[in-house]
Amino acid sequence: MNAEINIFPDLQKLSRHAAQLFVEESARAVHEHGRFLVALNGGSTPVVLFQYLAREYRDQVDWDKTHIFWGDERLVPANDPESSYGQARDVLLRHVPLAASNVHRVNTELGSDEASRDYSLSLKRFASVPLEWPRFDLVYLGMGEDGHTASLFPGSPIEVTEPVLIVTAEYQDRPAQRITLTPPVFNNARMVIFMATGDKKATTLAKVLSDRYNPELYPAQRIDPKDGKLIWLIDEEAASKLPHELIRKFCEG
Ligand code: 6PG
Repeated sequence: MNAEINIFPDLQKLSRHAAQLFVEESARAVHEHGRFLVALNGGSTPVVLFQYLAREYRDQVDWDKTHIFWGDERLVPANDPESSYGQARDVLLRHVPLAASNVHRVNTELGSDEASRDYSLSLKRFASVPLEWPRFDLVYLGMGEDGHTASLFPGSPIEVTEPVLIVTAEYQDRPAQRITLTPPVFNNARMVIFMATGDKKATTLAKVLSDRYNPELYPAQRIDPKDGKLIWLIDEEAASKLPHELIRKFCEG
């Protein structure tokens, strides 16, 4: 895995850096091709990033040229507290001048099959031909304590060709029914940023970042952009089981 690893003392500093990368990549994308396509993640880790983008960095983004997608979504209504769209809407989207037509959510109320078809069509509208999905400028991903990312869980099929999958997976007490983008989409991105914090993820993170490749057991290892940048933003707790030479090399105050 050819990745850049940045280690931060805490989630605040990590999230500020993640927001700065959003601003930089949005400016680059708008300059190079007139729009910025970004995929957000769900879960608890991105909340502080969303807060920074909604406040401190709000005026540094060309929201007219920004299109928001999700790397995965839980099949719950938009107003459900477990909705990743709902979380981003409440913490970020409703606080920035972003047109509803620039928000490309998974329409969960359609039910799994129709929502999956509908989301595939949304992707197709931004496709980088000959692919049927966009070349995202930026993708944010998290990692579960079990090594899953987006809704790609351990033991799930590795060789997938379609851009969108319907998934049923148990993880903590979170909704099991999900829709997820797949490695062909993520690995076509210009930049993928993983954010992971907390000591509960340290053992798995050391496995994921080790050079022992086991993508079936650690789906986060399936993400390796072929012509893009892979960046891990982690805190010192999550980094606590990484080999010392790796930590020394990447520790950033
Ligand atoms: C989801 C996510 C999922 C998440 C990880 C980490 O919707 O649940 O996309 O992949 O990123 O489970 O979640 P935390 O950030 O809450 O640890």
